Amino acid sequence: MNKVLCCALVFLDISIKWTTQETFPPKYLHHDPETSRQLMCDKCPPGTYLKQHCTARRKTVCAPCPDNYYTDTWHISDECLYCTPVCKELQYIKQECNRTHNRVCECEEGRYLEVEFCLKHRSCPPGFGVLHTGTPERNTVCKRCPDGFFSNETSSKAPCRKHTNCSASGLLLTQRGNATHDNVCSGSGEPTHICGIDVTLCEEAFFRFAVPTKFTPDWLSVLADSLPGTKVNAESVERIKRRHSSQEQTFQLLKLWKHQNKEQDMVKKIIQDIDLCESNVRRHMSHANLTSEQLRRLMESLPGKKVSTEDIEKTTKACQPSEQILKLLSLWRIKNGDQDTLKGLIHALKHLKTYHFPKTVTQSLKKTIRFLHGFTMYRLYQKLFLEMIGNQVQSVKISCL
Ligand SMILES: *[C@@H]1O[C@H](CO)[C@@H](O)[C@H](O)[C@H]1NC(C)=O
Ligand SMILES: *[C@@H]1O[C@H](CO)[C@@H](O)[C@H](O)[C@H]1NC(C)=O
Ligand SMILES: *[C@@H]1O[C@H](CO)[C@@H](O)[C@H](O)[C@H]1NC(C)=O
Ligand SMILES: *[C@@H]1O[C@H](CO)[C@@H](O)[C@H](O)[C@H]1NC(C)=O
Ligand SMILES: *[C@@H]1O[C@H](CO)[C@@H](O)[C@H](O)[C@H]1NC(C)=O
Repeated sequence: MNKVLCCALVFLDISIKWTTQETFPPKYLHHDPETSRQLMCDKCPPGTYLKQHCTARRKTVCAPCPDNYYTDTWHISDECLYCTPVCKELQYIKQECNRTHNRVCECEEGRYLEVEFCLKHRSCPPGFGVLHTGTPERNTVCKRCPDGFFSNETSSKAPCRKHTNCSASGLLLTQRGNATHDNVCSGSGEPTHICGIDVTLCEEAFFRFAVPTKFTPDWLSVLADSLPGTKVNAESVERIKRRHSSQEQTFQLLKLWKHQNKEQDMVKKIIQDIDLCESNVRRHMSHANLTSEQLRRLMESLPGKKVSTEDIEKTTKACQPSEQILKLLSLWRIKNGDQDTLKGLIHALKHLKTYHFPKTVTQSLKKTIRFLHGFTMYRLYQKLFLEMIGNQVQSVKISCL
């Protein structure tokens, strides 16, 4: 900017301040016709209009604005302003008009004023979250969800949310989230659950003693009531009954009870032993790396109802090679409630001899079967359990292995 102009502006600024702002009440210059002199008159305050200019002998006369009129500054106008008569469509009266303030209209909740109309606030689509919520004057501001955040809804309020931290809740991440989807965590942090093995071979071996030979209708509730510690609630018992076949119900109940009581000393011991068993089984099975074709063979050789080809394919996709057999055995057991998995496997091994089945695999299976048979800890617990559970459950006849 030109130096001279700049100085002139500064000077002007100072002079304006001196004449208008640094005096109170604010004043204005008025030519008095009576004396032909320039007078400094007071301006009129908000809420009034100028009735008479000042004279050499008298101050300015201001009068209050009539109803529905206002003035909101110090001024020298001889009339007040008319208040905005009606609000626009979809507006409500936020502040009524009085002598010092115009009527204030505002768009209804969820809308903002764009030129003459109250428009709906924008909703941010999935993948975008709200950065600034809309106000009566301003539309919503959306923002693409950055890494680690998501929004799975169309909303004018919801910001991007952080992906669920699976590991912080002791869960496993099974599907990584993106801008539109949350992380998907799976049931529990135990490695056997990556591909969703529900009841493991070890849990089956461990809890099998508690499965009755004859199921009475209230069997599960009796067992739930008899287990020590934190009870499995009636709602969960009902859910288990709805979702699982009779033998599976026992496993599911004991598994849930184990989970709910994992802080108890005795349960801690049970969990420890089951973990030990599972790491052993995994070790035996870690060499069993089968093709889809071989897995199908193996499943066909098991007695009873067959696991579908579709389930076999799903399993090969979802599970590590070392876990595929375990998962398929658990699927087979669920389909064949009355069968003992180990007996089924022994049966299958005899049949597999006629195929050219990899020796490493049949040996792994044999080792696993032998290990689970020799896994005698359960007998100890069986006794302990029976003592804990008491006569009630014995009266519905628990079958012992
Ligand atoms: C006029 O309304 C404004 C707000 O709209 C309020 O602050 C002020 O006190 C009111 N004046 C009188 C005299 O009621
Ligand atoms: C959005 O994600 C949350 C958290 O994962 C979930 O509870 C909710 O059902 C999802 N909503 C929709 C519409 O998908
Ligand atoms: C998840 O939680 C764990 C433990 O609380 C923490 O170490 C980790 O950094 C968190 N991950 C993310 C992505 O926030
Ligand atoms: C986000 O993940 C979901 C499911 O995990 C998928 O269907 C979708 O295509 C992914 N979106 C993008 C942009 O990658
Ligand atoms: C399992 O077999 C596949 C192909 O047959 C091979 O790519 C893979 O490395 C094997 N995995 C192990 C752990 O042996």
